[in-house]
Amino acid sequence: MQEDPQAKPLAPVQQYSRSDMEFGGIKPKALPREEKSSKCLVYVLAIMVIQGAVLLIFASVVLRARTPDFEIRSVTVRTLKFGNSPAPSFNFTLLTEVTVGNTNFGDFRFENTTGSVSCGSIVVGDVKIPTGRAQARATERLNVSVDVSSLRISDMKSLSTNISSGFLELNSNVKLSGKVNILNIMKRRRYPEMNCFMTLNLTGQTIQNLTCD
Ligand SMILES: *[C@@H]1O[C@H](CO)[C@@H](O)[C@H](O)[C@H]1NC(C)=O
Ligand SMILES: *[C@@H]1O[C@H](CO)[C@@H](O)[C@H](O)[C@H]1NC(C)=O
Ligand SMILES: *[C@@H]1O[C@H](CO)[C@@H](O)[C@H](O)[C@H]1NC(C)=O
Ligand SMILES: *[C@@H]1O[C@H](CO)[C@@H](O)[C@H](O)[C@H]1NC(C)=O
Ligand SMILES: *[C@@H]1O[C@H](CO)[C@@H](O)[C@H](O)[C@H]1NC(C)=O
Ligand SMILES: *[C@@H]1O[C@H](CO)[C@@H](O)[C@H](O)[C@H]1NC(C)=O
Repeated sequence: MQEDPQAKPLAPVQQYSRSDMEFGGIKPKALPREEKSSKCLVYVLAIMVIQGAVLLIFASVVLRARTPDFEIRSVTVRTLKFGNSPAPSFNFTLLTEVTVGNTNFGDFRFENTTGSVSCGSIVVGDVKIPTGRAQARATERLNVSVDVSSLRISDMKSLSTNISSGFLELNSNVKLSGKVNILNIMKRRRYPEMNCFMTLNLTGQTIQNLTCD
């Protein structure tokens, strides 16, 4: 109820100010033409510089294809078997949660690939990553299960020593290949690489000190 009476007296005031501006508007027209056109040129140049800066920022932030982060976030050990007799051997499954962190302004589609888990220089397990996609500015999480066994290790003496120590040093290495698709106008191939180290505590059946480069 109070708002209506207040609004009405305002209306004529606005009309006054509008007509004031119209009178004032005549004065600049009387200025010399050269001054006006040089001002105009300054504005046009300023707008061009600002546009250039905006384009540069756009190109370097939005259009740049950054290599996504690829790493193991967590690992658990299942069905661990190990022993030194009759022959030294180990057997277990690693349940890993793997992440592909994509900071690009476009999704990252990667192809299936196979990497490895190694003990020293010997491959003891295959890491199979299925075809997938990490959405723009998002982290894709994958559960990957890896069967690890000592079957491919031939140096029984060293293997026996390692098993007796109660710890196995493992290294997981996988190189992805995929395309960053920016705004549907640009595709760039990128190769995110995972390189993680971990220590398996045999008696505790746990992974300790997981670190990724
Ligand atoms: C590892 O797994 C194989 C096949 O399942 C089995 O024959 C072998 O005995 C296992 N090794 C150990 C140390 O348990
Ligand atoms: C990717 O998957 C296809 C079809 O399933 C298969 O033939 C190919 O060997 C796989 N590639 C790798 C590197 O695992
Ligand atoms: C035993 O462990 C050491 C140190 O982690 C490693 O360099 C070596 O390759 C391992 N040996 C075997 C047979 O796994
Ligand atoms: C991965 O496994 C965990 C535990 O089993 C489960 O909670 C999670 O939903 C799984 N994630 C995916 C992407 O399947
Ligand atoms: C390995 O696991 C055992 C059993 O859980 C634990 O007592 C021991 O402290 C662990 N070793 C290390 C170095 O953490
Ligand atoms: C884990 O790292 C800590 C410090 O970096 C070290 O003291 C410990 O021995 C490591 N544990 C294993 C099992 O390697």
